[in-house]
Amino acid sequence: MSGVIISGKVLAKEMRETMKSEVEELKKAGIIPGLTVILVGNNPASLSYVKAKRKACQEVGMYSELIHLPESTTQDELLGKISELNKNPKIHGILVQLPLPEHIEEKAVIAAISPYKDVDGFHPINVGNMVIGDSCFLPCTPHGIIKMIEKTGIEISGKHAVVIGRSNIVGKPVSLLLLQKNATVTICHSRTNHLKEITRRADILIAAVGRPKMITKEYVSPGAIVIDVGVNRIENGTLVGDVDFEEVRKIASYITPVPGGVGPMTITMLLSNTIKSAKQFPA
Ligand code: GUN
Repeated sequence: MSGVIISGKVLAKEMRETMKSEVEELKKAGIIPGLTVILVGNNPASLSYVKAKRKACQEVGMYSELIHLPESTTQDELLGKISELNKNPKIHGILVQLPLPEHIEEKAVIAAISPYKDVDGFHPINVGNMVIGDSCFLPCTPHGIIKMIEKTGIEISGKHAVVIGRSNIVGKPVSLLLLQKNATVTICHSRTNHLKEITRRADILIAAVGRPKMITKEYVSPGAIVIDVGVNRIENGTLVGDVDFEEVRKIASYITPVPGGVGPMTITMLLSNTIKSAKQFPA
């Protein structure tokens, strides 16, 4: 058996085609969905992510702007910018790229973004609404993962999903979304004992560990759906996931590649949230 590749690139392209038409419709009503991305400092990975986000906005016809601030920016200066954007009727989504420099408190920055413009879904109000299953902006990577699993046509309900990683951005929220889809969810992390024994019982395995090719075939049950959230640059400069793709592909039913898997879906769900915001709170 060789696993079918779930291409995030292909699914993202399909979804973005639909979004182009939605943006056209909004423009006819005088609304141009607008996203501001704020980057503080010059982290190379963050620079490439924010460029990709802006390019994607432009491709679907949305307005986007990048506010690139120096590493020396103070927390108050950043909060001041956010406060201006919260009031700017042209801007429907605000994203502050993480990680922030150490002298800036991430929690304070996230809390300062209006929950109505929090297209990352990181504000405590959106997180709380997600937990209770109420209307909110869902965080982009977890939402993209759910879309990819649904694309396989395999029912999530009743399956055993094992998530490796407990970050606020991926591990915790994807676990909750899977639970809402009636999966039985196990969350594993760096202190989990007997990890392989647990992951081998997964129908759906989500790897969000940040360790290149850690998930070898010994971790995977034959026929499992394997979603790789890892983006690791190795010594020779290439990008690899948390999963040993070539080896695991041989036994998985479905598997996501890196690059071209979860990454394009994260950006697509960001566009989706910004369009949703423009529809709900036009100005
Ligand atoms: N850094 C890594 N992933 C993300 C993300 O999804 N949103 C933001 N704002 N920063 C990130």
